[in-house]
Amino acid sequence: MDLKSFVIELTGDGSPTLRLKNANSLYPDKKPESMHHSGGAAAETLYIYAEPFKNTLSVAHKLNKKDLSLGVVGLGLGYIELVILENLNANSAISADLTSFEKEQELVESFTSWIQSLKNETYDLICEKLGVSKRNALEKLKTLNWDIQGELTAQTQIKHPFNFVAYDAFSQMTDGPLWTDEFLDFFLTDLCASDCVFATYACTGLLKRALIRNNFVFIKRRGFNEKRDATLALRGDFTSHQHLFQNV
Ligand SMILES: C[S@@+](CC[C@H](N)C(=O)[O-])C[C@H]1O[C@@H](n2cnc3c(N)ncnc32)[C@H](O)[C@@H]1O
Repeated sequence: MDLKSFVIELTGDGSPTLRLKNANSLYPDKKPESMHHSGGAAAETLYIYAEPFKNTLSVAHKLNKKDLSLGVVGLGLGYIELVILENLNANSAISADLTSFEKEQELVESFTSWIQSLKNETYDLICEKLGVSKRNALEKLKTLNWDIQGELTAQTQIKHPFNFVAYDAFSQMTDGPLWTDEFLDFFLTDLCASDCVFATYACTGLLKRALIRNNFVFIKRRGFNEKRDATLALRGDFTSHQHLFQNV
C-alpha cells in the first residue's frame, strides 16, 4: 500500500495501522500520530467499537427498532466499517444506513478500489485479524445504503441522524477541530438521533461534559490495553437498557 501522507506499520497483534508521515506543525517535536494503539489495531477496534455495536443491535431488537443509522468518523483503513458489516450480516432483521467520514481522499480511494477489485494484501490482512469474512462484508456493503462523505465539518448535513456513532478521529493534537465544545455540541445535537449510542477510544473531561450537556448518560469504560479509560454514552431509549452496556 503506497500512500502520500501515511506509512504503514504493524501493531502488536499483527494487524496494520497507518502513521502520518509529517509531524503536526503546532507540535513539531511530537512523533506523528498513528491511527491505532500499538498493542493491536484489530484488537482495539473489536474492544472499543465492535462490542458496543453488538450491544446496540441486541438492544435495538428489544426496542423493536428495525432501521438504524450508523456513523463512523474517520474511515482510515476501514476497520470499524468491516466489523459493523460483519455484525449486520449476523442480524438480518436490522436494516441500516452507514455513513463514513474521511477527509483524506487517498484513503477513500484505496478502500473503494479494494471493494471493487478485492485485491489488496493490507485489507485482506485486516479482515483476517478481525475475523471478518471479506466476501460477506463486501456483499453486505452492496445491500445497505453506504454514504462515504469527505471531511466532517460544522456544515455537514446527513439524511438520517445517527443511532450509533464510532467517533474515531485522531486525538486533539492532530484533529483538534473535532474535539472542541462547539463542534461536539453541533455533532451531538444536529447529527445524532434522540436515541443514540456513542462510542470512542477517547475519554476527556471536555468530551464527558459535552455528552452530559447533550443529554447522554456517560459510561466510563476501561481503555484498551494500558490506556486508562474509554467512553460509551447512551441517549433516549438506549438508556433503558444501560445494564446491557455496562459490562462491555
Ligand atoms: C484514527 S484514524 C481512523 C482509523 C479508522 N477508524 C480505522 O479503523 O482504520 C482518524 C481518521 O480520521 C480522519 N479525519 C480526521 N479529521 C477528519 C474530518 N474532519 N473529517 C473526516 N475525516 C477526518 C483522518 O484522516 C483519519 O483517517
